[in-house]
Amino acid sequence: MFYRAAATLSLLALLSACGQPQEETTGDGLPETVTWSEHIAPLVYRECTPCHRPGHAGPFSLMTYQDASRRAQLLAAVTESRFMPPWPADIGYSTFVGQRHLTNAEIALFKRWAVQNAPEGDLSQAPPAPVYPEGSTLGKPDFVVKIDKPVQIPGDNEEHFWIVKIPFELPRATYLKAVEYVPGHRRIVHHMNGHLINYEPGKKRDVYGGIRHVDPLLMGYAESYQRLDLPNDDGSYPALTTSVMNYLPGMQPVVYPQGIGGWPIATKGVFLLRDIHYAASPVDTQDAAYLNLFFSPDPPERPTQEIQLGTLGISEIEPALIIPPDTIMTFRTQAMVMQDISLLTLNPHMHLLGKSYWAYAITPRSDTIPLIRIPKWDFRWQYNYTFPKMLKLPAGSTVYVEGVFDNTRNNPNNPFNPPRTVREPEGNMRTTDEMFQLIITYLPYKAGDENISLSGK
Ligand code: HEC
Repeated sequence: MFYRAAATLSLLALLSACGQPQEETTGDGLPETVTWSEHIAPLVYRECTPCHRPGHAGPFSLMTYQDASRRAQLLAAVTESRFMPPWPADIGYSTFVGQRHLTNAEIALFKRWAVQNAPEGDLSQAPPAPVYPEGSTLGKPDFVVKIDKPVQIPGDNEEHFWIVKIPFELPRATYLKAVEYVPGHRRIVHHMNGHLINYEPGKKRDVYGGIRHVDPLLMGYAESYQRLDLPNDDGSYPALTTSVMNYLPGMQPVVYPQGIGGWPIATKGVFLLRDIHYAASPVDTQDAAYLNLFFSPDPPERPTQEIQLGTLGISEIEPALIIPPDTIMTFRTQAMVMQDISLLTLNPHMHLLGKSYWAYAITPRSDTIPLIRIPKWDFRWQYNYTFPKMLKLPAGSTVYVEGVFDNTRNNPNNPFNPPRTVREPEGNMRTTDEMFQLIITYLPYKAGDENISLSGK
């Protein structure tokens, strides 16, 4: 089980407040004068400041009028192009917890505000700047695991995809309901999928041995795991609990309702961040992350299950995932559901050549159930998409996934110029290789599941 593919759990959510109603509109429905206080601040606080605030992922803060007004033109440009807020899934196709979106009318407000030279309006009417919780977004953790040696990131202006080890010892074995990953250096931590290794009693004397990070591209996974000192003392491999946490800037982890999901956790173990994506840094820096652990006294009543379609999964990709240079190709994979299941979270995955992504299911009665459509794949924004309520797929339904890959020069993310043949490798995965996957987190269906909210509300 240890060499299973990278799988990712879900967990995302962000509360979105409502924009304010507008009065005194002109013929196009827009207000005569667009002001920060009345129109722009509510949108910025809803859609932008989760990332654009001091010490967070956005390259600058947008918390104040001064911050935003200096960049009014840029704000208008990135909202109009829909580069920001980043949310690649088509919200007209399916709905997910924490989704971000500006309507066309809201985008027009940004534009008019810029054209009018960013009026401030009556600051006393402006909504108060949001206050974000420090330390944890989920409440008071039961236990905090800090990485004992910060990860050192060289100032080489390169992106890094690393495996990072965070060892821990707990006073006693228990059950884990949720893990919240808190990066030490938010500006450079881009995304992270994390797994749990529990050492059985007596199998591992010292969990703190080995180094803290490796580059699996340089040495392969087997060597990487040795250097991190992951094997048991007798050289055998411990089991891996996949997908216990997941991180993307600005997203709050989704915690499934009471009784759903969760994992046993031993007294000694390792959280394995595989992989973590660090953005390029021009200066040497370090990342001292910590993990907030939330326990449950009882084993999960309904442990979640995970299935992977496509690369390293249960279903073949047709044709085989080989993308010749200068082509745009479509690949498909499908799998039938043998029992009634309830879907919780989807994790679509492709690499740099991904262009678009589409998944849906067809039931035995020929009804189509939309799952997710990503019209413009963006490697940088790989969300785990959680449905607002559990979604039932009846036995006999087939899940279809279609991925389009662009291996031409017109793809700005193409890692090769001139383009080369890119394929799904048999051994070690590199970012410049391709993958085509749908990872589904689900439960065996129970009557009433479709009424169970996953949005934390
Ligand atoms: C989920 C986190 C997140 C949210 C939400 C977000 N941003 Fe960003 N923003 C980023 C990151 C990260 C970058 C850096 C760009 C990159 O590397 O892709 C960025 C870059 C930008 C830039 C610079 C673009 C450039 O070309 O230099 C602007 C302007 C911007 N964001 C505006 C906004 C606005 C306006 C909103 C809300 C409508 C918003 N962002 C919401 C994370 C976010």
